[in-house]
Amino acid sequence: MSGSLNTLLSPCQIPASKSVTNVWTWVDGRIRTMISVVALVVCLAGLVWSLDNGLARTPPMGWLSWQRYRCNTDCVQYPDDCISEKLYMRMADLLVSEGYRDLGYKYVNIDDCWMSRNRSKDGSLQPDPVRFPNGIKSLANYVHLKGLKLGIYEDFGTKTCGGYPGSKFYLQQDAETFAAWGIDMVKLDGCYTDVSDMDEGYPIMGFYLNQTGRPMLYSCSWPAYIKQKDFALYQKIAKYCNIWRNYNDIGDSWDDVSGIIEYYGKDGGNFSKVAGPGNFNDPDMIILGDYGLSYDQQRVQMAMWAIMASPLLMSNNLETVKPESKALLQNRRIIAINQDPLGIQGTRIVKMNGLEIWVKPLAPKGKSIAFAFLNLNHGGGPSKVSYPLNKLGAMSPQGYNVTDGFTGKLIGTYKSKDKVTVMVNPTGIFLGVANFLGQ
Ligand SMILES: *[C@@H]1O[C@H](CO)[C@@H](O)[C@H](O)[C@H]1NC(C)=O
Ligand SMILES: *[C@@H]1O[C@H](CO)[C@@H](O)[C@H](O)[C@H]1NC(C)=O
Ligand SMILES: *[C@@H]1O[C@H](CO)[C@@H](O)[C@H](O)[C@H]1NC(C)=O
Repeated sequence: MSGSLNTLLSPCQIPASKSVTNVWTWVDGRIRTMISVVALVVCLAGLVWSLDNGLARTPPMGWLSWQRYRCNTDCVQYPDDCISEKLYMRMADLLVSEGYRDLGYKYVNIDDCWMSRNRSKDGSLQPDPVRFPNGIKSLANYVHLKGLKLGIYEDFGTKTCGGYPGSKFYLQQDAETFAAWGIDMVKLDGCYTDVSDMDEGYPIMGFYLNQTGRPMLYSCSWPAYIKQKDFALYQKIAKYCNIWRNYNDIGDSWDDVSGIIEYYGKDGGNFSKVAGPGNFNDPDMIILGDYGLSYDQQRVQMAMWAIMASPLLMSNNLETVKPESKALLQNRRIIAINQDPLGIQGTRIVKMNGLEIWVKPLAPKGKSIAFAFLNLNHGGGPSKVSYPLNKLGAMSPQGYNVTDGFTGKLIGTYKSKDKVTVMVNPTGIFLGVANFLGQ
């Protein structure tokens, strides 16, 4: 399929040389007409519309199937691991019974490969009939009765990354389908399309989601597909999306976790600055409870995702998460740092000899901070790290109580020019919270 969606969806900007009909010849006449009419409305409405759906006031928390379960559709050989309604129902049950829901992990999110290979006769998306015999609406009801929310996956292009039907040319119909099913969050990936279409297309899907009247948290993969990202782009993304992936997919390894941390440390285009209530950068799923990370490395992912105000979407088998991983995933202090109401994304202020220092301001603003001493070195034993509070931005002359962010244990009471000194394990972290002592 050649031709630019851009042009199609913005009739007010169609260059004279491009013909709408040529691009649309493969679509039946009814759909073509409908989309053209709607596109005109969007073109006008788009000037004033922006995201204001009241969602993601703090980073969303929950569970997402992709990293752990991928595109496993073989329910014969892998009855417990295939993408099926049973998997999501089981994870919903475990979110409740294992205590995750009550700590904020509310979303149960379907990822790729849930669909039937073909749309129905009227063009609607439909789930695979064997793996989702009761349909998505029934799954949504199940999840809602447990006090949870249901997320779903689609793709902005002609196909999903796994080759299932994409939303291109069906954006409005798919938004309406999701609303009718009772979906609470939509992740829109970006395979099989021109990157140049995304700039217009993702906002348009956001518009259609909004028009359904059902609040659906909108997760955009748009920036992940764009090579050169600047602050203006991020500002635009934040205007239309609640959360957005901007870097590589995570796999089950320390290399992936540390690579993402480095990308967020570089903060190219200052993307950290657009984070705040309603909008968060998404460094991808939490892999605690899987196979790839040591205990210290699991502490790093949990603490850094808290510092970075990142969505906490676990991708693991909640049935087999080891107690030590579960304790980290359920650490109320770490969750509170992640869910801090200011929603400020922490940034890296020092990178030297394999050591990094990160700071995230907490509420009340100007009085509390969370900070991390991250030791990325692989060799030897723990390193001694010593750094003055005032250089972390804790400037009050009345001083601070510094506690361990994991345990709440008091590390000491310090004046702002005093140094906090701690030992940090290799590929490990010290997470501190400094609380202002004055009024
Ligand atoms: C699905 O659609 C393709 C064409 O896109 C067609 O070849 C195939 O037979 C269809 N499969 C089913 C099960 O309808
Ligand atoms: C749609 O957008 C308007 C304006 O931004 C907003 O007030 C409303 O809450 C949105 N509705 C939904 C369902 O997202
Ligand atoms: C990012 O912000 C810093 C100041 O905090 C500024 O010096 C720099 O030019 C900005 N970079 C970009 C790419 O916007």
